[in-house]
Amino acid sequence: MGIRFDSVTVAYDGNVVLDSLDLTVEPGEVMALLGPSGSGKTTALRAVAGFARPASGRVYLGGEDVTDLPPYRRGIGMVVQSYALFPHLRVDENVAFGLRARRTPKDEVRRRVAEALELTGMAGYARRHPRELSGGQQQRVAIARALAIRPRVLLLDEPLSALDTRLRSGMLAELARLHRELPEVSMLYVTHDQVEALTLADRIAVMDTARLRGCGTPKELYRAPADAFTASFVGGANLVPVTVTAQGASFAGTELELDTAGAVAGARATLCVRPHLVGLGEGPNRLVGTVREIQWRGATHRLYVEVDGHTVMADVRELKDPPGYGDQVTLSFEPEDAVLLPAGVGHG
Ligand SMILES: Nc1ncnc2c1ncn2[C@@H]1O[C@H](COP(=O)(O)OP(=O)(O)O)[C@@H](O)[C@H]1O
Ligand SMILES: [Mg+2]
Repeated sequence: MGIRFDSVTVAYDGNVVLDSLDLTVEPGEVMALLGPSGSGKTTALRAVAGFARPASGRVYLGGEDVTDLPPYRRGIGMVVQSYALFPHLRVDENVAFGLRARRTPKDEVRRRVAEALELTGMAGYARRHPRELSGGQQQRVAIARALAIRPRVLLLDEPLSALDTRLRSGMLAELARLHRELPEVSMLYVTHDQVEALTLADRIAVMDTARLRGCGTPKELYRAPADAFTASFVGGANLVPVTVTAQGASFAGTELELDTAGAVAGARATLCVRPHLVGLGEGPNRLVGTVREIQWRGATHRLYVEVDGHTVMADVRELKDPPGYGDQVTLSFEPEDAVLLPAGVGHG
């Protein structure tokens, strides 16, 4: 079942924290809401769940206007960062909670609790209390509890951010599996972690202070971001100010060849090229600069090279003989690996 925000605005004490959000999550789709802290992601989720009341605009679930429905009538499963399990209830009682509140018959409750625990790999833990579980297991129970009511949509608010890195990637795989097993359930997944968004989501909606900045598939946003904010939030990006020319752009007195896609010669623009697409050595588009920083990252070295007062990052395959600090180096990139974005302050 799909979710639709139709020009949804939410304000607290006159402060608009969600500004005319228009966004559609298709039935069965996983949509990530990605953005920095305070950008309005949780508020958007709470508007769907019924905990934040829009000042204007409507929220639809499967075509039905639910804006005036109380939360418990919306058929939504919600999982938050802090698990929010009842400490005095056993795992099975926690999972049964929503069903009991809905006065579901006993046999049905037992069946659904078993099913939800099975789905989340927690079948063997039914009689434990939350304090007897690890963080990852508690979050699985929270997900089981959300699934037990057979929600039409599943809302997840930074569900992995309380877990350590290793657990997180395991849980990420679990969520992807869950989505394959419940292909009809739409998911709206709030995160500030671009890896989670890129890994899990069919599409990503990028938020920046109360506003939607861009929405597209991970590939679209990565390869052709609409603006510098989106470019820097979805994957690392080099963002440098350039002037558009007939053949491409000029930067630091160097002519760069690239697709200007209709930009007007003479206009200012921001050049975006991903660090892994910048190589060390001669190539079609050359940038000469000074090495300011080198980071070894296992499989790659990241070079920070100062070119005419701007820092350009290059991720190159681990170098046998890396350049030294202060060395002059030549970087290069292919014309098709760069895109021109509207001029503006980069967030690189
Ligand atoms: N209940 C509330 N009362 C007042 N301000 C709030 C409330 N909830 C959130 N805000 C404010 O709304 C803005 C967006 O918050 P939130 O949606 O939680 O952002 P995010 O989830 O992206 O971090 C923040 O500036 C936050 O301080
Ligand atoms: Mg939040």
